[in-house]
Amino acid sequence: MPIIAPSILAADFSILKKQIQEAEKAGADWFHLDIMDGHFVPNISFGPMIVDAVNKITNLFLDVHLMISDPDKYVADFVKAGADQVTVHSEATPHLHRTVQLIKSHNVKVGVALNPATPVNHLENVLTEIDLVLVMSVNPGFGGQKFIPEVLNKIEKISKMISISERKINLEVDGGVDVETTPSIIAAGANVLVAGSAIFGKKNIADALTAIKNASQQA
Ligand code: DX5
Ligand code: ZN
Repeated sequence: MPIIAPSILAADFSILKKQIQEAEKAGADWFHLDIMDGHFVPNISFGPMIVDAVNKITNLFLDVHLMISDPDKYVADFVKAGADQVTVHSEATPHLHRTVQLIKSHNVKVGVALNPATPVNHLENVLTEIDLVLVMSVNPGFGGQKFIPEVLNKIEKISKMISISERKINLEVDGGVDVETTPSIIAAGANVLVAGSAIFGKKNIADALTAIKNASQQA
């Protein structure tokens, strides 16, 4: 069974606690928190304050996805707020190796994200250092976008790179994940699914989460 990480970006923040508890009860494994700065991506979401609030609501693993420029500046703040894993974009930092080391120095898990147009070779020299690769299957910045099918090929390539590395590295897919796209994403080798609209965007969060879990078994 893959790890299901509902993205709270699609939640109703006026009843965030209720929705998080619903998702947790329905079997969410992690929560995915999308941080957008209006600079690296053309949208602004939320910062460490909300991560801290979510951390008080749930004991589940908090998967923090930084879609921000100059991530080094803010890593400590997000760890302090309760991040269990911090993922940075390879495109957002000129010294990816240094950024990865900085995150590791805070004793949390570290992930590297690739935009749809970023080639897999960006991972080659950091794969021995990281716990997760996040493959963006939409251009980052907004929830509710359509899955880009060309990314499936990239997921397969990265899955092979991970097997060759013989390290335990999670392969996460983010953007347009729903009951239709899940089987092919799993078949390509991913083991962590982020879903915003397909879970929090639905009337019945529990049913929506179960539907994605079921779809993952059809791969
Ligand atoms: C997009 C974010 C995603 C987003 C996914 O920039 O990184 O995590 O919440 O949303 P859906 O599942 O609606 O595509
Ligand atoms: Zn994300």
